[in-house]
Amino acid sequence: MHFFQYRDSQLFCEEVSVAAIADQVGTPFYLYSLATVKRHFTVFDRAFSSSLHLVCFSVKANSNLALLRVFVNLGGGFDIVSGGELYRALNAGCDPKKIVYSGVGKTSAEIDYALKSDILMFNVESPMELEAIAEHARRMGKEAPVALRINPDIDPKTHPYIATGLRQNKFGIDIDSALREYEAASKLSGLNVIGVDCHIGSQLTEIEPFVEALSRLKWLIAELKDRGIDINYLDLGGGLGITYQEESPPEPRQYAQALLDELSPLNVELILEPGRVIVGNAGILVTRVLYLKQTAGKNFVIVDAGMNDLLRPSLYQAYQAIWPVDKTQQGTFVADVVGPVCESGDFLARDRCLSKVEPGDLLAVMSAGAYGFTMASNYNSRPRAAEILVDDDKSFIIRERESYVDLIRGEQIPAFLGDSG
Ligand code: LLP
Repeated sequence: MHFFQYRDSQLFCEEVSVAAIADQVGTPFYLYSLATVKRHFTVFDRAFSSSLHLVCFSVKANSNLALLRVFVNLGGGFDIVSGGELYRALNAGCDPKKIVYSGVGKTSAEIDYALKSDILMFNVESPMELEAIAEHARRMGKEAPVALRINPDIDPKTHPYIATGLRQNKFGIDIDSALREYEAASKLSGLNVIGVDCHIGSQLTEIEPFVEALSRLKWLIAELKDRGIDINYLDLGGGLGITYQEESPPEPRQYAQALLDELSPLNVELILEPGRVIVGNAGILVTRVLYLKQTAGKNFVIVDAGMNDLLRPSLYQAYQAIWPVDKTQQGTFVADVVGPVCESGDFLARDRCLSKVEPGDLLAVMSAGAYGFTMASNYNSRPRAAEILVDDDKSFIIRERESYVDLIRGEQIPAFLGDSG
């Protein structure tokens, strides 16, 4: 459920007209509904209320400081994968003891930063990384709290680029060598082994892969207990899918119930790392039609947002619904919706049945709140879009549109190349 709805054929975000925002801030822009974000977080959090748990929003899905602050205010923590995300999480006011840190390539500087910040847990992805973290911690006279990220070898039945829990993926430690690695970790000074972690993939629309992964981790936790290694935290990652088109993913309540049923009677604190399910359908990308063009057998709607603004259609052939902001126009036609970027792969939709549009019309690319702005780039020297947050009848710029000056910030022309004259 979300709060983007038509009123008299005009698209509204909560109580604010989308067209009115476009007039104020120009296009393209990302637009988020605060009520939707809060509702999704709260529904997800409550679904686990019968168990000790912490919802660590996955910052990579949407890292805008204002949204992160919303989650802090709701009692959430964060799943981070870089020093940059740690910086954002801390700037949003997050208690470091609610931050878990995953990722296969943590650098020395990032490990030091996380150790200094006293985060809750490192989710460690390889034996070499384990050694590195232990060594850094010893040097700082600390004990690093760690979980091993387990690769349970489960097919999440999702797009191959976002499946992460199969043996051939780069993520985690093979479940078959997990016991050995845990024993090694428990003997390393500088480490405090407190958790087991896994994340098997993203945009999952079935419960079974999650439950199967959990059942393998349960086995592991029991084996560890027999060996005197007590686990306090079980981090089940994120991955719950959303409806982009016709998918019918489980409701958070069903997902939570299935996990909690499988979990009992283990006595551990659960950590969840949802991203998409919280923000995906809480955000849209608003773009304006520039031109219409027909070539032999094809219609193109050329808009002012491109693959640099929203990469998902190009990268994963992902479907994102496209709604007219004003739906009074009668009639439909089939077209590709493409951006201004100089790549044939620059499209937001292909062979899509759209309501008729004219240059100047506004289109809303739906379900763009997760992995939208965070995957945006400056390709073709295009300033990144503005981000707007609506709260009831008010809207706030939560990230200004980039300027040309922003584009060249940090670049330097060495003196030997001469003056511009
Ligand atoms: N935890 C870890 C360790 C992750 O790698 C991810 C996502 C999450 C949690 C959050 O997963 P979610 O609940 O959002 O599914 N760019 C792709 C998605 C990549 C997901 C990467 N990892 C897309 O646009 O579909």
